[in-house]
Amino acid sequence: METVVSGIRPTGNLHIGNYFGAVKSFVQMQNAYNCYFFIADWHSLTTYPKPDDIVQNARTILAEYLACGIDPEKATIYIQSDVKEVLELYLYLNMNAYLGELERTTTFKEKARQQPDNVNAGLLTYPTLMAADILVHKAVKVPVGKDQEQNMEMTRKFARRFNNIYDVELFPEPASFSFTSKAIKIPGLDGSGKMGKSDGNCIYLKEDAASIRKKVMKAVTDSGPTAPNSEKPEVIQNLFTFLDIVSTKDTYDYFNGKWNDGSIRYGDLKKQLAEDIVAFNEPIRERIEEYMGNTELLDKIARQGTEKAHESARKTIRQVREIIGFRKHP
Ligand code: TRP
Repeated sequence: METVVSGIRPTGNLHIGNYFGAVKSFVQMQNAYNCYFFIADWHSLTTYPKPDDIVQNARTILAEYLACGIDPEKATIYIQSDVKEVLELYLYLNMNAYLGELERTTTFKEKARQQPDNVNAGLLTYPTLMAADILVHKAVKVPVGKDQEQNMEMTRKFARRFNNIYDVELFPEPASFSFTSKAIKIPGLDGSGKMGKSDGNCIYLKEDAASIRKKVMKAVTDSGPTAPNSEKPEVIQNLFTFLDIVSTKDTYDYFNGKWNDGSIRYGDLKKQLAEDIVAFNEPIRERIEEYMGNTELLDKIARQGTEKAHESARKTIRQVREIIGFRKHP
């Protein structure tokens, strides 16, 4: 079975956009691939060197992954910092990663601009750590968003370079598996932007009904259609996109008809949309709560994932050490 690896930085709660972007495709992939889904807590240190509660942050993502249907019996779910073999590979990869290429990475330049007082070496070598995450399991597929494409190119380059330097065929070059799904957008209070944490315009998976209703009812609209069958402006299209995802086809068609004949009432649409989001979210929210209330279980699942990740990583590191010429591990 082909191996898949993907990581997520534990920087907050998952929202519905994350669900329809990444997590849903993870849930599908776990049935067809040998999947490793890990929580990239080391990576988060490049931006947040002093996290409030690193253990709890990881538990949160873990609980949310499980609540969404990622199954620890099928996929290996673990916390990056539990698998120290990754660091050893990170070191070897760094020996053959060049300052120039690391500095040219768009994500590095962007981060350097965002945090000019903390342009640290971890930030510079973010792509080598990511490559180590992936190559340590010899993954051939990596589901990531478009913003990670350059990091993926670096990963392939590092894999190729290692193979060339030591004249081996150890690492496959992993392909990006872009979850292309049309970006899920919910209009912010200002009526712009796609669903993202930073915008304060998103609906979290752990959000309760009252709060969802409030957010949806506040969503910006316009003054209504100006002519029959006119094109929908962005703020309205956003609501329809959402409707398309969480509501039935009948509901969508009903409101679409109302838009087209000009009789639409946004209040009605939002009320329906809110209820459909609540219906979608509620079972997930309940499961998140259950998991969050059972840290013992969460920690046990993380431990079991770590075991499996260790096993795979140890095998690779043993090969790498032998290839470079180190004495065998005792
Ligand atoms: N860089 C990824 C992001 O910000 C997170 C990540 C770290 C990752 N290591 C990875 C993703 C390995 C895929 C594979 O989204």
